[in-house]
Amino acid sequence: MQVVPRLTIERMRHDDIATVQQIEREIFLSPWPRNAYASELSQNRQAFYLVLRQGGVIIGYAGVWRVAHEAHVTTIGVRASDQRHGYGTALFAALILRAYEMGARWVTLEVRASNLHAMRLYERFGFKEIGRRRGYYTDNGEDAVIMWSDSLHAPAFKQRFGGILSGIDVAGVGGVPPLEYPAP
Ligand SMILES: CC(C)(COP(=O)(O)OP(=O)(O)OC[C@H]1O[C@@H](n2cnc3c(N)ncnc32)[C@H](O)[C@@H]1OP(=O)(O)O)[C@@H](O)C(=O)NCCC(=O)NCCS
Repeated sequence: MQVVPRLTIERMRHDDIATVQQIEREIFLSPWPRNAYASELSQNRQAFYLVLRQGGVIIGYAGVWRVAHEAHVTTIGVRASDQRHGYGTALFAALILRAYEMGARWVTLEVRASNLHAMRLYERFGFKEIGRRRGYYTDNGEDAVIMWSDSLHAPAFKQRFGGILSGIDVAGVGGVPPLEYPAP
């Protein structure tokens, strides 16, 4: 009998930071400064971070900020050896569910112009490029591509998102997009 380790997505805790930073150093050209996650978790009330565990071991993470009516994706990453198995999709879906819960109306993010893999992932959720910030990334002078979702409550967005959600089998991600905006 093959044992399939259980996948769960949960809120990031302080104890998770060291592993998250280890993954981050592996997959990002410019990892966040050492204290960034600790201050995000303890001081930023607009922020929400989560981790994806496989059999208890963290293999990915992601974060979002609520800014006015928008949810800004601040980061998303999957351990290099575990990429292209659908985990990034599960994490991104979990962020979007969180954006609904936060009462956001749109989701936005910035991605390096060379990061076609990530852009394809966002496009599958219906995100579109709406502009660029020239030379935004100071480590290599690369442009940032700015991407936006449609309204989270647009029927076409919800239908597409619902279809993606139905293909995800991860504890902590599931159900269907909320029907209405939460009360303000
Ligand atoms: C971007 C990132 C989070 C995506 O994570 P991921 O787990 O690889 O994403 P997914 O597996 O859900 O989907 C990505 C691709 O894998 C493919 N895929 C999904 N499940 C698959 C499977 N079981 N077998 C083979 N391929 C699969 C998808 O079709 C998709 O392919 P495509 O990009 O060619 O269209 C990950 O590549 C990463 O951490 N990159 C480094 C950090 C980074 O760039 N973050 C984004 C900053 S904006």
